[in-house]
Amino acid sequence: MTTTTVTTTVTATAPAGPVAPAVPLAAEQQRTAELEELIRRQPGRFRVLTGDRPTGRLHLGHYFGTLLNRVRLQELGVETFVVIADYQVITDRDVADRLGEHVENLLLDYLAVGIDPARSTVFTHSAIPALNQLLLPFLSLVSVAELGRNPTVKDEIAHSRQSSVSGLMYTYPVHQAADILFCKANLVPVGQDQLPHVEVTRTIARRFNDRYGTTTPVFPEPDALLSAAPSLLGTDGGKMSKSRANSVALSATADETARLIRGARTDVERHITYDPVGRPEVASLVLLAALCREADPHAIAAEIGDGGAAALKRVVTEAVNERLAPVRARRAAFAQDKGELRRILREGNERAGAVAEVTLQEVRAVMGAVYV
Ligand code: TRP
Repeated sequence: MTTTTVTTTVTATAPAGPVAPAVPLAAEQQRTAELEELIRRQPGRFRVLTGDRPTGRLHLGHYFGTLLNRVRLQELGVETFVVIADYQVITDRDVADRLGEHVENLLLDYLAVGIDPARSTVFTHSAIPALNQLLLPFLSLVSVAELGRNPTVKDEIAHSRQSSVSGLMYTYPVHQAADILFCKANLVPVGQDQLPHVEVTRTIARRFNDRYGTTTPVFPEPDALLSAAPSLLGTDGGKMSKSRANSVALSATADETARLIRGARTDVERHITYDPVGRPEVASLVLLAALCREADPHAIAAEIGDGGAAALKRVVTEAVNERLAPVRARRAAFAQDKGELRRILREGNERAGAVAEVTLQEVRAVMGAVYV
C-alpha cells in the first residue's frame, strides 16, 4: 500500500490520497477465491451484510457489480442482511433531500433484481436504535488519527463540494462497522472502495473482543468478499455515476435506454474491436452487451465487425433492454403496491431490530453496563 502522511489531528484538509486498501488487493482477491470455495461447500457458516446509500436509482454498474452477486449469495442459501444506509447519506450533503423517495427507489431496485424479502432482511439503519447505540463503544476503540487516515474518507473529502467536513464524514466508517457487526455478519460483499471500511470493522471487532473478552469473542472479524466488478464506463466515457446521468438506470424505460446509448461516446474507427486499453469507450459498450447476453466480448465485437458505432449501439440497446425487461416488469409491479413496500420494510426493520437488541444486550453485559 502507499502510506500517506499520518495526521494526528482531524483537519478539514486531510490530504487526498488514492483509495489504497489497507491490505494489498492481490491478498484480498486471493482471500475472496478461498471464501467462494467455502461458501459453496458450507453456505450456512456465513452471514452476509451489505448495502447502499439511498442517493438515487441503481444502474447497470450496480447490477453487474454488486446486485447480481448478492442475489447469487442469497440463492446459495447464505443468510443475508441488506442495509439501506439512510444515515450515511448525510455525510457529504447539506440536505438529505428526497430521502423518502430514494429509500423507496432503492427498495424497488432490490426487489426488482430478485432480492427476496422472505430470505433476505432489508432494513434502514436509522430505524434500528440498538444498532446505532453500538456506535458509542465502537468509537472508543479507534483513534482520531486512524479516522483521519481512511483512504476512502480522504477521497470523499477531496471530492466533496462542501466548504467544511462534518464529524460524520470521519466517523461513518465506524457506524458502518455497527451496520456489519450488529448482526455479527462474517461476510461483506463490497467493491474495492469499501475495503478500508471492512478493515476498520475488523479492527473494532478485534479490539472489542480483546478489551471486553470473555472466553468466546463477541464479534467475528468479517471478511470482505470482492465482487468481480466489470469496468463499465458511463456513456460519457467517465466513471458511471448516479449523479452524472451517464448510466442506464434499472428503472429506465426501453426508450430512455435507447436514447442514452445512442448518445454514448465512441470513436472514429469503424471496425469494432474489444480493446479496453486502446478503445475504452467502445470496449465498455461491447462489454455491456456481453454481460447482458452472458457472452464473450470478443465474440460480440466480431459479430458487429465493420458495422461501426451505429450497429454497436443497436446491439447494446437491444441486449440491455432484453436483459432488463423482466427486472423492469418486477419493479413496475412492486411500485404499484406501496402498502406492500411499507410492509416489507417494516418487517425487515423488525427482524433487524430484534437481532440488534440481542447484540446490544450482550455488549452491555460484557462491558459490565447492566445495573438493574
Ligand atoms: N458505504 C456503502 C456505500 O457507500 C454503504 C454501506 C453502509 C455499506 N453500510 C454498509 C456497505 C455496510 C457494506 C456494509 O455504498
